[in-house]
Formats: sequence, C-alpha cells, structure tokens
Amino acid sequence: MVEIDYNEKVKDHFFNPRNVGEIKDADGVGTVGNPVCGDVMTIYIKVKNNIIIDIKFKTYGCAAAIASSSIATEMVKGKTLEEAEKLTRDDVAKELGGLPAVKMHCSNLASDALREAIKEYRKKQGK
Ligand code: FES
Repeated sequence: MVEIDYNEKVKDHFFNPRNVGEIKDADGVGTVGNPVCGDVMTIYIKVKNNIIIDIKFKTYGCAAAIASSSIATEMVKGKTLEEAEKLTRDDVAKELGGLPAVKMHCSNLASDALREAIKEYRKKQGK
C-alpha cells in the first residue's frame, strides 16, 4: 500500500471534521459520485436571504475527501450562493495547505456536491 503524506491541517480536518451530518429540513441537497474512485458525497444547505446559514456533509470518501469537505463547509458558511458556487477544488486544496497530487480528485467531491445542492435549492425556488 502506498503511504500518503498529509500535512497537519489536513490531518486535523480528517480527525476532527467540522459540519459532519445531515440537515433534516435542508433547503438544498446535492449528491455526487467521484468518477475516479466511486466514492460518494452529499451536502445539505440551509439558505436565508441568499446566504448559506448552515451546511453539513456526509461522505463515503477517503481522508482527503473528509478533510476537504470539512474545510469547504467552513469556507462557504455565511457566503452568498454566488460566492459559494465559485469554490473550486484548488481553493479547497490551497486552504488545506496542499493535497498530494494523487488525492486532488477527492477535493472535487465537496465543491461538486455543493453546486448540486445550490442547483436543487434554486430549482425548488422556481429559479
Ligand atoms: Fe475517493 Fe478520495 S479516494 S474520495
């Protein structure tokens, strides 16, 4: 097995992930699968006045997916939907202080699922 060297910030978000769980009365829910590894991620958002006031995630992903989702939820909480949907995997990886190249695909899950959740929210609003 190849050993992957994660930095301390990644390890912190993996061992103590923020915003894990489910929002029962979510305004938007997005689920995506990772074409590279088959792992799955769901993001739940609560929206008020166009701002993400709460966000949670559940994943069957690896350590990098958990860490990147944890930090992504922190990055977009309190942001407008327009700001949140601009989040890229590179923003997430940068905020984590870098991810090993073989794990970059894992950080797609959070931003893709978030965009799906925003899409679903807008659809429900008839937008
Ligand atoms: Fe699947 Fe990381 S290996 S999300």
